[in-house]
Amino acid sequence: MTKIIGVLAGKGGTGKTTTSINLGAALSYFGRDVIIVDANLTTPNVGLHLGVPIVPIHLHHVLQGKNSITEAVYAHPAGPKIVPGSLSISDLHTTDPEKLKRAIKQLAKYKPDFIILDGAAGLGREALNAILSVEELLIVTNPELPAITDALKTIKLAEQFSKRITGVVLTKMNQHEHDVSVKTTEEFLENPVISVIPYDKAVRESLAMKDAVVFTHPKSKAAVGYKKLAAALIGQEYSEEAETEVEIGFFSLLLKKMGWKQ
Ligand SMILES: Nc1ncnc2c1ncn2[C@@H]1O[C@H](COP(=O)(O)OP(=O)(O)OP(=O)(O)O)[C@@H](O)[C@H]1O
Ligand SMILES: [Mg+2]
Repeated sequence: MTKIIGVLAGKGGTGKTTTSINLGAALSYFGRDVIIVDANLTTPNVGLHLGVPIVPIHLHHVLQGKNSITEAVYAHPAGPKIVPGSLSISDLHTTDPEKLKRAIKQLAKYKPDFIILDGAAGLGREALNAILSVEELLIVTNPELPAITDALKTIKLAEQFSKRITGVVLTKMNQHEHDVSVKTTEEFLENPVISVIPYDKAVRESLAMKDAVVFTHPKSKAAVGYKKLAAALIGQEYSEEAETEVEIGFFSLLLKKMGWKQ
């Protein structure tokens, strides 16, 4: 059964694309088949984050009625498949966001384990159509009042359409002494914070390397946070120590086989 999850926030720049990509990469790391769709139609970033800014067939072609969404799916070395958007302004005018829901339904027929929609900021037509296209939502926010207020508006809008809120992802945490706490965020949003991703310079480095931080800096705090979130979504326990043991075990075995270790 395919899980269709929207990643929305209300406020721009909170970390939706970073979360979509790294959650997708972490779910792939755990062996799940994942498709990330760039549903941010005005400022699509998924392709840019992953080093594939231009593709022959993109989501805008699909929403213009020119292609089927299955023609716009690309395998990425980071693990998840992606459906990128167009960077061209001229593609925007002829794109119908209301076609998104049907396109996502069509994609679900191929039964991936997860479809993740990276949503647009705001509460306009674009974000609304992403909300209408999914079954459940991850709400991304930062530990500051304006971001949390906009997150609440997104939650209220989603509730109007009976969409389930999977939980809140509180990201860029611990950057300032005045950060709003997890407890206050939960009280304000009336939903659980299911993931706390620290502010981590590894995220910016991964952006420069055009790959998911889960792969470029697998031991960074942000990568561990996203792996924990992915594990929680598939009902697995993630332990950093266990992963380190597995790695140490593997390398010891390798060294023994090569005769470099007793
Ligand atoms: N945990 C983090 N630590 C440090 N920087 C981060 C973190 N998460 C995201 N960022 C940075 O914050 C900026 C915005 O992130 P991102 O593009 O994911 O936000 P967005 O919500 O998708 O933005 P938009 O509303 O424009 O689509 C990027 O420069 C990204 O590298
Ligand atoms: Mg984005």
